[in-house]
Amino acid sequence: MQHTADLSDIDGFWTAPITERADDFARLRATSGIPFFEQPPSAFLDPGPGYYALTRLDDVVEASRVPGVYRSGPGATSVADMPPEFLEFFGSMINTDDPRHARLRRIVSRGFTPKRLAALSDEVERTAATIVDDLLEVGGCDAVEEISARLPLKIICDMMGVPESQYRFVYDKTNVILGAADPEYVPDADNIVAALLGAGSELAALMRDLGERRLADPTDDVTSALVNAEIDGERLTPDELGSFFILLVVAGNETTRNAISWGLRLLTENPEQRAAWLADPAGVTPTAVEEIVRWSSPVIYMRRTLSEPARLGDTDLPEGRSSRCSTGRRTGTRRTSPTRTPSTSAVRRTRTSGSAGPARTSASARTSRAGRSP
Ligand code: HEM
Repeated sequence: MQHTADLSDIDGFWTAPITERADDFARLRATSGIPFFEQPPSAFLDPGPGYYALTRLDDVVEASRVPGVYRSGPGATSVADMPPEFLEFFGSMINTDDPRHARLRRIVSRGFTPKRLAALSDEVERTAATIVDDLLEVGGCDAVEEISARLPLKIICDMMGVPESQYRFVYDKTNVILGAADPEYVPDADNIVAALLGAGSELAALMRDLGERRLADPTDDVTSALVNAEIDGERLTPDELGSFFILLVVAGNETTRNAISWGLRLLTENPEQRAAWLADPAGVTPTAVEEIVRWSSPVIYMRRTLSEPARLGDTDLPEGRSSRCSTGRRTGTRRTSPTRTPSTSAVRRTRTSGSAGPARTSASARTSRAGRSP
């Protein structure tokens, strides 16, 4: 099935204006069947068999509701398989299936008690107020550096008990991991794998050291809870603690940073939306946060690999390696409704019916909505 939009064309399709991409996704959603795309070229990963792109909400919901068939484990949740040497640092909970996923979640959820979530919510408010106060001093600034990046970095580091002196280190290492192909973060393109593994091992070493200190002398941070959590006689291994920390600082930082940056832009470009929010903060905040996450879609896709043949809509999908489904988070949240086109943003937008959200949607999706950690 030929498509005008090639989702694997990183330098072409993904650098086009957002309105053009939205139109292309609308065409993909309107075309019957599920499109298949060749694997995007990579400077450091082996080419793979390609993937099916799920661009319709119902298909994304269905694929997320049946984790036993649409699995996260085999290969990874990225389109390309994760090389074995990456698994030590990046083979974390997000790339696992039950029963291992459930075991890890049971242990890590010990770190996210209602009491800790409430305290975290207060800290988010305090930190946001400090950032705004600092802005009054500095005036014009790089909004990503001075606003969007600061909040999640401080919250996640504080939550884990990482001292302020290490914030920059964590920030730089997560940028290398998420921006490996970007010369701004890894100038030497021939060195990407070494840079990635280096960043992973340095973050894991930071957590291993902190974990040992918290085992000996626990405090009220999440690391203390994680290293002392024991479920059925099982504890997180040092590697699991390291890769979970990397998952948190990677999954939690850049996503929230992008959502805040897009929020700033949307509210700047839509002053009437900003006015509506300012007029009723308590009433509008819940839907506005949802809308900013929907519009910005910080996570563009998550891969699933079929453990058995399956049918989605009018398409039969084969089992296994050749049937990777990238669940399009950017397009999957756009169901055309009569009143509002999916490509406009509105702080009072409520969920369209049927967008209940994937069963395996991580606690983080709840996180970003409620501003509390999972
Ligand atoms: C706007 C902000 C965020 C967005 C859009 C987002 C989105 C996502 C998505 C789409 C997944 C994958 C779910 C799947 O595989 O189906 C995920 C997983 C995860 N996220 Fe987030 N996230 C955000 C913020 C955060 C934050 C702040 C944290 C932690 C501090 C976090 C921690 C996690 C974890 C631990 C997982 C893996 C959960 C699991 O495997 O069960 N995320 N997130």
